[in-house]
Amino acid sequence: MKILILNGPNLNLLGRREPSIYGNLTFDEFYDSLKKKYPTVTLDYFQNNVEGEIINKLHEVGFSYDGIILNAGAYTHTSVAIGDAIKGIKTPVVEVHISNVHAREEFRHISYIAPNAKGVIAGFGLQSYALALESFL
Ligand code: DQA
Repeated sequence: MKILILNGPNLNLLGRREPSIYGNLTFDEFYDSLKKKYPTVTLDYFQNNVEGEIINKLHEVGFSYDGIILNAGAYTHTSVAIGDAIKGIKTPVVEVHISNVHAREEFRHISYIAPNAKGVIAGFGLQSYALALESFL
């Protein structure tokens, strides 16, 4: 089972960025614990702040991996191009968010990912990624 976790803009700042919303843990710390918890899963991780790089990664893995766990950050709410990329690949995508986007500003209620995703998990902190991983097992 080969799964990619794909994080979009500003998620490289986890642990330092708005900790009251996103927590104190860095993604690397969380990712280490996730790999230990699921030793039989081949987990890869990619983060990028650039929309086109996220699309390139979706194209690169989207015909060979078993699943993609995507937190597109703010691009979730704006990117027709990422939505189209998900439509164009074969690998199922689960959309995740650390925060409950539906309990926040109205612009965060819109997702260009969700209509093309297998499912959406939001609001469980970094555990949202673990729940998404479980959904592929
Ligand atoms: C986020 C929610 C988005 O609205 C925000 O722009 C992010 C993080 C989350 O994981 O809660 O960057 O995707």
